Amino acid sequence: MSAGPIERNERMSAYQRGRLPALFAACLLLAAGQALAQGDVRRGEKLFVECKACHSLGASQDANALGPSLAGIIGRTAGASDDFRYSPAIRRSKIVWTRQTLDTFLADPQGVVPGNRMPYSGLADAKERADLIAYISQVTASAK
Ligand code: HEC
Repeated sequence: MSAGPIERNERMSAYQRGRLPALFAACLLLAAGQALAQGDVRRGEKLFVECKACHSLGASQDANALGPSLAGIIGRTAGASDDFRYSPAIRRSKIVWTRQTLDTFLADPQGVVPGNRMPYSGLADAKERADLIAYISQVTASAK
């Protein structure tokens, strides 16, 4: 007569033994997916060193900088900084910079905006682009 509850416990733990590893694996996958989508800001900061040679993230345009300031770049239309003389190609592109358009552009700047004057051949690694864009979004958002 006491066999009922014990039997049910055993059935429960067999059920859990089977399910928990799968649940754990699903959580890991989800965490990895989010890390990829959001990017790693610290790694992005290191990658930005390449861009820093020409771009600042500060509000005012440095007169000696080769490229436009990227302050507030997310949400801005391409070629919109009044303090920088852009190429006609960039101004004509009418791109609105979002995480997505930045990603496409940085993968292949000349392919996306042919004739632009940015002397940078692109960042082929998707994970690195995600990290870089995470950093840029964070810095430019907090600078506003
Ligand atoms: C050697 C200099 C140089 C480097 C390195 C460089 N850029 Fe540029 N970038 C430019 C110039 C110059 C322009 C303007 C191009 C034009 O007018 O055609 C530009 C334009 C841009 C624009 C468009 C800005 C706007 O206001 O529409 C973005 C975004 C951008 N660069 C991001 C980056 C990122 C991110 C990196 C690093 C991965 C990078 N650039 C590396 C020189 C550079």
